[in-house]
Amino acid sequence: MTTPASSGTEKPASQSPDGELTPTLQPVMVGDIRVDPPLFLAPMAGVTDRDFRLIVRRIGGVGVVSMEFVSSKAIMSGNRKTRELMVFSEEERPLAIQIYGSSPEIMADAARVVEELGADICDINMGCPANKVLKGCAGAALMGDLGLAERIIRQVRAAISIPLTVKFRLGLNDKQRNFIELGKICQDSGVQAVAVHGRTARQMFSGEADWEQIARLKDALTLPVIGNGDITKPEHAERFLRRSGCDGLMIGRGATRNPWIFRQIDAHLSGGAVAQPTLEDRRDLILGHFRMVADREPSKFALHKLRKFTGWYTHGLPGGRNLRRQIQQLPDVPSFLSAVEQFFDEALVEDANRAA
Ligand SMILES: Cc1cc2nc3c(=O)[nH]c(=O)nc-3n(C[C@H](O)[C@H](O)[C@H](O)COP(=O)(O)O)c2cc1C
Repeated sequence: MTTPASSGTEKPASQSPDGELTPTLQPVMVGDIRVDPPLFLAPMAGVTDRDFRLIVRRIGGVGVVSMEFVSSKAIMSGNRKTRELMVFSEEERPLAIQIYGSSPEIMADAARVVEELGADICDINMGCPANKVLKGCAGAALMGDLGLAERIIRQVRAAISIPLTVKFRLGLNDKQRNFIELGKICQDSGVQAVAVHGRTARQMFSGEADWEQIARLKDALTLPVIGNGDITKPEHAERFLRRSGCDGLMIGRGATRNPWIFRQIDAHLSGGAVAQPTLEDRRDLILGHFRMVADREPSKFALHKLRKFTGWYTHGLPGGRNLRRQIQQLPDVPSFLSAVEQFFDEALVEDANRAA
């Protein structure tokens, strides 16, 4: 197994009950940005907005938070909504802004805007499998045209001085798994780190992320490799690091159901106790998040968002399904908030009765 590259002060490895050494989380340098712990919140369109990024950051244990991807064309056409999406607060740092597109010139211009806005890291999306993005020859489509991918990476790299990262998949499909080639292009073009999701674009989210392939990429490159795909528990993080030797982990869907995951992984790999969120923690998280959304968004969008996040946050809670069903019918934000409050009041009473 490869040992994770590290920088800064080495943290001691701890011993697991079976006598094996547990991999430790060593800080990783992405250019001049020290990422400690090396745990990344994955960019997720419609999810990693300002509110969710702040929630994850305030819970703690996360090294870098990523903004949902932004179209380079929309940035350069001055699209108001896009510019609003790109607002972030100091508290979120270090923060990565991810851009996508197929024109090297427009991507370079958009990257300049990302730098001017003060992002810590500029990230290029070369992994999005959505048809809308593929049709514009952006996202994962660039894995089918490595010449264009390289031109984009080089022009963007030359346009900015902040660290540049590239996020991609294993390839377009099983027959075209060219992630190692793309990784080498990134390395030779001055990119500071890569993140790879262990699936092909054709797979979308089906099957399992192939951690062995991520390990091959790590072995083939000298720049930091951040592994991504299907890490939803601290034990997964441990197994993943043991198998891949990657320099860091990126977590997407696991954080939507459990925004505490970064803190839990950090604790687990430091040999500490992994605290499970209590019902009160969950209630405060949901209500706090919902008030943030409701304060800012027009109510139609707020409700849509609240339903989506409630589905995730109540996953696995006793009675959670009933609440999810009930909130589909509720007409406005206040009735939504009171239904959630009532659900947790009752759950807390039941919990106390069980404990008595
Ligand atoms: C709702 C959703 C939106 C996503 N949006 C993006 C995106 O904007 N940019 C990107 O690079 N990947 C995006 N992804 C992919 C994730 O960043 C990540 O690579 C993928 O979910 C695998 O990691 P996971 O198993 O930890 O979720 C998205 C995934 C989901 C579920």
